[in-house]
Amino acid sequence: MKAIKGNIISTCRFGELSILEQGFLILDDRGRIVSVTEQLKGEQNYLPVADYGDRLILHSFADMHLHAPQYPMVGMGMDLPLLDWLNTYTFEVEARFADTEYAREVYRRLAADLIGWGTTRVVMFSSLHTEATWILMEELEKAGIVGYVGKVNMDRNGKDKLQETTEESKRETLRWLEGCRRFRYIRPIITPRFTPSCTDELMDWLGTLAQQRGLYIQSHMNENLEEIRLVKELVPDCDRYWQTYAKHQMWKDHTVMAHCVHIDESEIAALKEANIVVAHCADSNINICSGIAPVRRLVKEGVWVTLGSDIAGGAQLSMAEVITMTIRSSKIKAMQEGEEKEFLSVAEGYYLGTVSGHRYFGAGEGFCSGDFLHAIVVEDSDRISLGREMSLKERFERVIYRMKKENIAVVYSEGRKVIDKIQVQERIRAE
Ligand code: GUN
Ligand code: FE
Repeated sequence: MKAIKGNIISTCRFGELSILEQGFLILDDRGRIVSVTEQLKGEQNYLPVADYGDRLILHSFADMHLHAPQYPMVGMGMDLPLLDWLNTYTFEVEARFADTEYAREVYRRLAADLIGWGTTRVVMFSSLHTEATWILMEELEKAGIVGYVGKVNMDRNGKDKLQETTEESKRETLRWLEGCRRFRYIRPIITPRFTPSCTDELMDWLGTLAQQRGLYIQSHMNENLEEIRLVKELVPDCDRYWQTYAKHQMWKDHTVMAHCVHIDESEIAALKEANIVVAHCADSNINICSGIAPVRRLVKEGVWVTLGSDIAGGAQLSMAEVITMTIRSSKIKAMQEGEEKEFLSVAEGYYLGTVSGHRYFGAGEGFCSGDFLHAIVVEDSDRISLGREMSLKERFERVIYRMKKENIAVVYSEGRKVIDKIQVQERIRAE
């Protein structure tokens, strides 16, 4: 057992912030949380303590939706709407991942950047390439990240640039799953790109496979009006987009649906009933003019909402920036619509970008006993003086809005210290 000490700022429930000044996180030998406490008691005084001083200890981030092969095109092509953006830019960039050397170079950089920004858990799209997907999984695992990665399935509308035959898609999915057994921290997730990219035959096969093998599913839904129209045209027997997934056993517990921007009451009810995980991607939705999701309403109505950077529709890998973008986007919604007067607070955004995503991996709320530690230690001594003491809440808010990679001093992922820029020595305090 050991302990880490600092200003612990956690969130146990949507909107609730718990601030423990100079508190202790007690960990077992495997890095699982034993307890969070104000003071060491009895025997605990003989534990080795890593004292992070006046720094802030926060939950690490969970990025619940991003496209690894789009990392090279971050910040490009932003003046196009979704379908044109996919056809003009995106598919071409993803097609380059047939080259495994290129994949290695990009994915090593992506993994290092993710962990450097304090993102320790991910749910991620690869491209349709089997080898490159394994390389992505290897690089994430080496960097200390935990997550789900999907080889993308797409057997239509890829314009020859990026498309498999139905048979290839099935065969490669099976081959890819075989090769995933060697990973410990990165697990496979079934990934039909979105309904326009997959034939009914492929969808049906993937849905059955997921069911048989107990695999989770990720895809996109209700992102953009043109896309919704296209889905209706492609699958005329489904009245709603979600039914194109439900039809193939994909509408089920833990299915991650990115976006859900344009959504009505009946669709909200369907999300809630099936325990679908919405990956809300505010930065992306504004960049490619998809729309503004009613994020606070979704949460209030009991939908499981998490956040995604959606690289490269989104242009920020930093989940702190994604959180602030989410807050801004909810404020735009609130200003536009009288009825949605309430916008997200910083504490609410923090919950969505951290704990709500960690729950996908089976973690409890807050820094919960029994969970492996996922945390970052933030050094904010570079802050400009207010001319008075700042409260921990003020420092927390500023850190969420202003955090740079340099401020993230230590990262714990799955109980392991995977980044340490300050090398604080563990000491026994009683001595
Ligand atoms: N829908 C289908 N594919 C994509 C993608 O790569 N990015 C976004 N934002 N939406 C999609
Ligand atoms: Fe996406």
